[in-house]
Amino acid sequence: MRRPGEGTTLKRLHHNRHQLKQVKGLFGKLVVAAILLIAPTLYFVYFFNTSSSSSSDFPSEIDVQKLWDTADSGGWIPSSAPRSDWPPPPNESNGYLRVRCNGGLNQQRTAICNAVLAARIMNATLVLPELDANSYWHDDSGFQGIYDVDHFIKSLQHDIQIVKSIPEIKKNGKTKKIKAFQLRPPRDAPIHWYTTVALEKMKEHGAIYLTPFSHRLAEEIDNPEYQRLRCRVNYHALIFKPHIMELSHKIVDKLRSQGHFMSIHLRFEMDMLSFAGCFDIFSPEEQKILKKYRGENFAEKKLIYSERRAIGKCPLTPEEVGLILRAMGFNSSTRIYLAAGELFGGERFMNPFRSIFPLLENHTSVDPTTDLKSNAQGLIGSAVDYMVCLLSDIFMPTYDGPSNFANNLLGHRLYLGFRTAIRPDRKGLAPVFIDREKGRVDGFEEAVRLVMMRTSFGGPHKRVSPESFYTNSWPECFCQKLGVNPAHRCRNDMM
Ligand SMILES: *[C@@H]1O[C@H](CO)[C@@H](O)[C@H](O)[C@H]1NC(C)=O
Ligand SMILES: *[C@@H]1O[C@H](CO)[C@@H](O)[C@H](O)[C@H]1NC(C)=O
Ligand SMILES: *[C@@H]1O[C@H](CO)[C@@H](O)[C@H](O)[C@H]1NC(C)=O
Ligand SMILES: *[C@@H]1O[C@H](CO)[C@@H](O)[C@H](O)[C@H]1NC(C)=O
Repeated sequence: MRRPGEGTTLKRLHHNRHQLKQVKGLFGKLVVAAILLIAPTLYFVYFFNTSSSSSSDFPSEIDVQKLWDTADSGGWIPSSAPRSDWPPPPNESNGYLRVRCNGGLNQQRTAICNAVLAARIMNATLVLPELDANSYWHDDSGFQGIYDVDHFIKSLQHDIQIVKSIPEIKKNGKTKKIKAFQLRPPRDAPIHWYTTVALEKMKEHGAIYLTPFSHRLAEEIDNPEYQRLRCRVNYHALIFKPHIMELSHKIVDKLRSQGHFMSIHLRFEMDMLSFAGCFDIFSPEEQKILKKYRGENFAEKKLIYSERRAIGKCPLTPEEVGLILRAMGFNSSTRIYLAAGELFGGERFMNPFRSIFPLLENHTSVDPTTDLKSNAQGLIGSAVDYMVCLLSDIFMPTYDGPSNFANNLLGHRLYLGFRTAIRPDRKGLAPVFIDREKGRVDGFEEAVRLVMMRTSFGGPHKRVSPESFYTNSWPECFCQKLGVNPAHRCRNDMM
């Protein structure tokens, strides 16, 4: 079953960019963008205008047919335009803000959102964020290689000033660059740090350079306008470059030509497994590799597999993922797109999954002509996986703990109109799997269903720590047409 406009909304958004450019002003532009974004969900507003998703009324069964559709919106639609007085950035900036974003594509993405907010708070001019080439993914594509720079600058023009590099200044007939003063922000720094310590140095030196810059601004901020600015960056200003969008749409169109499909972020990778410290299921050789990696990258900690697993700290194995989906009622004709780096342990772990769900794809198998090989582990490969997962009918992360990829996608899919997510409750499922391994197979599927019925499938829900704002921007970045609370009611000119 195809939803209206689904899968093509972002492509149209992109193709219409040139037309959009003609529309003067942020709001005109954003209204057009919003109509494109929310078109598939608009009709929900009329049919379900009362909030129906309280946490107590769980369904009594799992309806797979319904999961292929978006979750019940309860009358909420995405909206991140300012709702109160929001003056344009002042003409006189306090100085230049340079940041170096480290980590993979998605850690960098949240860092970019934080950088824009930091610049706004400081009345600073943001220098196009630097994406750390040398960390983790060994990719040197940079901001300009991944994102549409002009769109980024233009769509934030009512929020902050952005320049591509620090301009040179002329002094006594000589030209020179302002030297940015380097600072290391505290982790999750409060706004206060930016308006005192950082601002003082900026005024003193003309420019500051914050490095490293990931998780350097508190996520929970008691100012919905600031949170909405983050959503404008994340869901409107950051658009991948045309070749990435085209490739992603080509893959989505191919997959969708045969019906709906599910994407799974199978976080069964070496770094995650060694981080989690779940070694016992591996061969002695494999354990050696994981332990070595752990020793080199993470703090020492005594980790006992049975204990870790019992509290849901071990990544699900591919087989467990397959068993969950089958218990929920998905059959072997389900098409599954796998987004992942290199799976650790190889085919031995994939085969049990493949025997339940043989229709498995990844970006190479869908489109072997794509030139991602040289870049398969890099930012462009991640960007394509991001887009395919974003546009898939159902998204299932298998480990949404410290996984920026899964967390950002859950947040983005919520914003695109409550697109279905399957979030296995690993802690709830652990005793069920342990029982099964001890030979108690009777009632296994029913037990899995009971746990899964109590999870959210992607509708509006309250953010509970440690859930991140980037995973769930409800209610700040949503509004209700017929809301009772004026703070949540959509205005006519809202995006
Ligand atoms: C800022 O600059 C704009 C255009 O250059 C000008 O119209 C406006 O009056 C200036 N505002 C202030 C407060 O100086
Ligand atoms: C930024 O500018 C606004 C006026 O546009 C002013 O109210 C605010 O205090 C300034 N903040 C800083 C940190 O300079
Ligand atoms: C799987 O389910 C779909 C409908 O949900 C059905 O059309 C299809 O025939 C089923 N496939 C198998 C192999 O049972
Ligand atoms: C993608 O799928 C192909 C064909 O099934 C397989 O050979 C390849 O190893 C997969 N690539 C990744 C990164 O999993």
